[in-house]
Amino acid sequence: MRTESEHTIYLKDYAPTPYRIVSADLDFRIREEATRVRAQLTIEPRPGTEPGTPLVLDGDELKLDSIAMDGAPMVLSAYTSDANGLTLVEPPPRRFVLETEVTLKPEANTRLMGLYRSGGTWCTQCEPEGFRRITYYLDRPDILAPFKVRMTAPRSLAPILLANGNLLEQGDAGEDMHYAVWEDPFPKPAYLFALVAGDLGSITDSFTTMSGREIALAIYCAHGKEDECHYAMDSLKRSMAWDERRFGREYDLDVFNIVAVSDFNFGAMENKGLNIFNDRLVFAKPETATDANYHGIERVIAHEYFHNWTGNRITCRDWFQLCLKEGLTVYRDQEFTSDERSRPVQRIHDVQNLRTNQFPEDGGPLAHPPRPDNYREINNFYTTTVYEKGAEVVRMLATLLGEAGFRKGMDLYFERHDGEATTIEAFLKVFEDANGVDLAQFGIWYTQAGTPQVDVTDSYDAASQTYTLTLAQKVDPTPGQAEKQPLLIPVRFGLIGPNGSPMGWTGVSGGEVRDDLILFDRASVTLTFTGIASRPVPSLFRGFSAPVKVTSNLGQEQLLFLARHDSDPFNRWDALQTASTALIADAARGKDWSGTDIDALRQALLDTLDDPGLDPAFKAQAIAIPAATVVARHIGHDVDPDAVAAARKRLMTAMVGPVAERLEAKYRALSSSEPYSPDAGQAGRRSLRNGLLGLLVAGSDRGAPLATAQYTGAANMTDRYAAMAIAAHYWTGDAQAILGDFRTIHAGDPLVFDKWLTASAQAPDDRVVERMRAILAAPDFPRTNPNRLRSLLGPFVMSNMVQFARKDGAGFRFITEAVAEIDRVNPQVASRILTGFRILPILEPARRDKGREALAALRDREGLSRNVADILDRLLA
Ligand code: ARG
Ligand code: ZN
Repeated sequence: MRTESEHTIYLKDYAPTPYRIVSADLDFRIREEATRVRAQLTIEPRPGTEPGTPLVLDGDELKLDSIAMDGAPMVLSAYTSDANGLTLVEPPPRRFVLETEVTLKPEANTRLMGLYRSGGTWCTQCEPEGFRRITYYLDRPDILAPFKVRMTAPRSLAPILLANGNLLEQGDAGEDMHYAVWEDPFPKPAYLFALVAGDLGSITDSFTTMSGREIALAIYCAHGKEDECHYAMDSLKRSMAWDERRFGREYDLDVFNIVAVSDFNFGAMENKGLNIFNDRLVFAKPETATDANYHGIERVIAHEYFHNWTGNRITCRDWFQLCLKEGLTVYRDQEFTSDERSRPVQRIHDVQNLRTNQFPEDGGPLAHPPRPDNYREINNFYTTTVYEKGAEVVRMLATLLGEAGFRKGMDLYFERHDGEATTIEAFLKVFEDANGVDLAQFGIWYTQAGTPQVDVTDSYDAASQTYTLTLAQKVDPTPGQAEKQPLLIPVRFGLIGPNGSPMGWTGVSGGEVRDDLILFDRASVTLTFTGIASRPVPSLFRGFSAPVKVTSNLGQEQLLFLARHDSDPFNRWDALQTASTALIADAARGKDWSGTDIDALRQALLDTLDDPGLDPAFKAQAIAIPAATVVARHIGHDVDPDAVAAARKRLMTAMVGPVAERLEAKYRALSSSEPYSPDAGQAGRRSLRNGLLGLLVAGSDRGAPLATAQYTGAANMTDRYAAMAIAAHYWTGDAQAILGDFRTIHAGDPLVFDKWLTASAQAPDDRVVERMRAILAAPDFPRTNPNRLRSLLGPFVMSNMVQFARKDGAGFRFITEAVAEIDRVNPQVASRILTGFRILPILEPARRDKGREALAALRDREGLSRNVADILDRLLA
C-alpha cells in the first residue's frame, strides 16, 4: 500500500515560503475541559511573490472555530481546511492580519506534541512540528517572528503562568480566572514556542552577567520536589558563566525559567527563556539519584542553556540542518563537562557512548549522514548520528584549526548569522573565512554516512633508521549511498620508543604532517619518518581525534605497552579495550586464548589499578570489560549472542580468579563513610569501587555476597543501584530477592521505579521476557509515560542481546507487540524502541530470520504511525 516516495521530503526541494509571518499574537484561554487558542498573525507576501499565490498554513488535528482577515470574518470560499492545514486561496498582495480560533483538548493529547497535560500541568513541546498542533502556522524553522502570548487560566488549577521571553503584565480576570502576558522580543521559529500553566513549586536564584545585568533564574517543579532542584540550578549558573568565559556568550533576556515535567518525549527542550525538562534530568538527591544522574543533569542543563546561542539566536534553515544546532551544542556541552570535571574521563565516556550507540546506527540499516538529504518523518532523525557524530565533526574542526582558529570561526559565526536561520554550508564558511582555509573536503563528513574504517600497517628499517606508516581508509556502502569518497581525517599521533618515552623524527615525507597531526585525506597514504633510532610503537588517533574504526597490526604485547606508556590517557584506555575485545571475540568464535595472554592482560589491569598517579574515575574506565554488544559489533557478522556472553564471562573469570582476594581488598579499601557529594572526585571513587564489584561478581564466587551486602548496606542510590544492576546483570542467587526488595521499598518514586525497570530488563535469564510482559500488563503500569516505557524496553533492546535476540524469537516478538500497542498512544516512543532491531544484520541467520519475521508481522498491522512505518521499512529494506 505504501509507496517508497510517500511523503518523502528532500533537501534539494528547499524553497522559502511565498509569505512570511511578521509577528504572532496568541491568546490562550485555558480551562479544565478545553483550551481555546486565538492567533492573530501579521503576514505579508515576500518581495516577488505573484499576487494570488495561495498561503498554505500547517495544522495537525486542529478544528477551526472561526477565521477572520483584517477584522472581518472570511467567507467560506476564501479558504479550505483539512487534516494537514489551512489554505487561504487568494490572500491580499499586501500585509494583512489573519485571525483564527481553534479548540484544543490537551487532556487527550497522548503523543505529547503540542499542548498537553502532565500531572495536571499544561505544557507544550513544539520541536520539530508540534506548533501546528496548537494553531495554524508556517511551522518551519526559517519562519522567525516575535511572539506575544496572553494566557488566561483558573487560578486554583494554574497559579503559575509562564511563556517565552519577559513578563509584561499579569492580573485578575474575574471569577477564579487570572491572566499573564509574556513577550519575547527575539524573533524565533515556532518550534521554540513554549507555555506552561500549572500549580507548581519553585526555587529561585540570580546570575549577574559579564556586562553586569542581573538575570532572574527559576526552576519550577511539582510541589515537594523543590529540594531536588538545587543541583540543576547550580549547573545552570556554572553553564552561564562558562559560556561567557569560553565563547564570550552572554544571556539576553531578563529571566531564565526551567520547568520540570513528568511526561516528556525526550530529555529536554531549549524553548527561548523557558526550557522544559523531563524531570529525570532535574531532580536529584543522594537517596534517589545516582552519580550518573547528577552527571546527566549537569550536562543537559548546560546543553539546553547553550542552545540559547547555538540554536535560538542562530537557528536552522530547515530540519535537514538539525546537526547545525545539535552537533554544535553537544560539542559545547562536552567541552563544558570536560572543563568542569576531568577531560580524559569525559572523553572516554563520550567515545564509549559513541561506539555503543552511534557506530551501530552508522553501520546498519538506519545509517544516515549527520546532515541527511531526505526524510519521511523528521522525528526519526533526532538520532545519535545527528547529535553525537555531529559533535565529533565539530570537534575535528576544532582539532584541525586549533583552539584559537576555532574560536575565531565561532566569533564570526555569531557575528555574521545572529538572528538567522542558516545552514551547514554557512557554518563551514565562517571557519574558512576566519582562517583562510578550504573546508570543501572536510565538509563531506556532514553528507556521507558510515563509520570510516582505517587500516594501519607499519614497518621499520634499522639500516636506514626509517619508519613507515601506511594508513588506508574506506567506508562501506550505506542505504542510498553506494559510493564513498575519501574524508579528511585528522590523526593526532605520537611515536613511542622502547623505553616508553616519546620519540622525535628528523623528517617526514609522503603526506601532510603538522606537528602531532596527520592530515589524512586520501584513500591511502604512506608516511616515511627518518631519524628513528629504533622501532617505535605508534599511538594513533590520540584523544579519539576522528570517529573511525581502526584495525592495525599491533599485537597484544604492543597494545599493553601503550596501555602502560602512552602519554595520551585516551589511548591508554583504548589499548586495554582493544586487547580485551579481541580476546573475547576470539573465544566467542571458538579460538581460545593462551594463558600468557590472560596473564599479561591481568597484569596490565593490576598495574593500572596500582598506579597512584591515575584518577580513580579513569581506573574504573580502564578496568571495565567491553560490553557484549561492543564485542558483537567487533565480530560484525553471524554473531551468536550466547557465545559472546559466555566468552565475556569466561574472560572475566580467567582474569579475576587468581587475584580475587586482591581485588576484594581494593574494593573494601574504597568504601567510605564521607557524607555523599556528587562531585567528580567522590563519584570517581564510587565508580571504581563498583567496577571492582562488577569484576568480582562476574569472575569469582566472592562477588555475589559482596553485591548483596552492598545493596543492603548502601548509604546512597549510586551504590545501591550499582549493586542491584550488577546482581541482575550476572543473575546472582540473590538477584531476584534484591529486585523484589527494591520494588517494594521504592514504590512511591517514579524515577526510582524506572531504575528498577531498567535493572529488571538486564536480567539474562530465560524468564525475563515473561516477567517483562507481566510488568507491562499490570493494570497500574503507567503505559502513557515515556520514562517508564523507555526504562523498561530501551535497555532490553539496546543491551540485553542474549534475551532480545533469543533463538526462539520470543524477545523480538515481545518488542514488536509492545511497539504496536505503544504506537497507538505515542508514536515517537514506539519508533525509538523499534530502532533496537538495527542489530539484525550482524546476527547469525536463524536469529536474523526470527527478527525479520517479527518485523514483518508488525508491518502487516493496520494503522501504524508514519514514525513506526518509516523505521520498519528501513529495517526491512
Ligand atoms: N532540541 C532538543 C534538544 O536537543 C530535543 C528535541 C528533540 N525532539 C525530538 N523530536 N526528538 O535539546
Ligand atoms: Zn539539543
